[in-house]
Amino acid sequence: MKGIILSGGSGTRLKPLTNMTSKQLLPVYNKPMVYYPLNTLLRAGIKDILIIIAPEHAGNYLNLLGSGKEFGARFTYEIQDEPKGLAEAFIIAESFLEDENVTMILGDNIFQNDFSEDIKSFKSGGRIFAKKVADPSRFGVVEFDDRMQVVSIVEKPKKPKSEYAIPGIYIFDNKVVEYAKNVIPSKRGEIEITDLHNAYLKDGELDVRMVEGEWIDAGTHDSLLDASILVREKLQGDMII
Ligand code: DAU
Repeated sequence: MKGIILSGGSGTRLKPLTNMTSKQLLPVYNKPMVYYPLNTLLRAGIKDILIIIAPEHAGNYLNLLGSGKEFGARFTYEIQDEPKGLAEAFIIAESFLEDENVTMILGDNIFQNDFSEDIKSFKSGGRIFAKKVADPSRFGVVEFDDRMQVVSIVEKPKKPKSEYAIPGIYIFDNKVVEYAKNVIPSKRGEIEITDLHNAYLKDGELDVRMVEGEWIDAGTHDSLLDASILVREKLQGDMII
């Protein structure tokens, strides 16, 4: 199992904070934001990690994270020239992945959970997660039937069919690279990660697990503040870096 931290994008929702640095390098309590998703991968035993970044901030990432040796890991870097969508990460990662499975985590997603078991028990297909939230229309949303079988998956629906958001951690087998190459850009011009979920769903190979612990997408001013408070109150003890 290899890891990807997707840490590009333009951070428009956090301007002017992101005028001079990458969103995922902003402070969350006492560490740069990207430390938290990195901690999640390292805690789960993933040591071979590709970090995908925007060209304008590449130097900052190298200075901060380096080769990975300091973290007992190996880091590889790739540039995403433009933020063309989350699914593009798997196309960029093709040669890094070789034929291995992958766990991708978003650079602005902060989790309390330890995903070790979810990752170790993964064999093939796709495994995503769900978490009940108050504002599902900000996220990818998964709808379940009475037996908790997945009925639909929709990216940022105006009228969400459930309260279950899909957090930014995804476990896929190597087929994801080919699936990503076949995704057609959405109306907002991005190749959407939810199209990959739907490709696995169509093949009967998608497994959805609940996230029990805290989860924050720190991509807005309010959630960035909430993330700092969450770290101070609850997450500091879980940090291994
Ligand atoms: O946080 C979970 C949500 O993340 C999921 O529920 C959604 O299905 C998924 O599309 C995504 O939604 P966001 O609106 O949060 O995506 P955002 O554009 O903020 O990008 C998420 C992270 O990925 C962010 O750290 C920036 C980075 N990114 C984004 C794009 C579009 C890239 O590195 N490259 C990109 O092309």
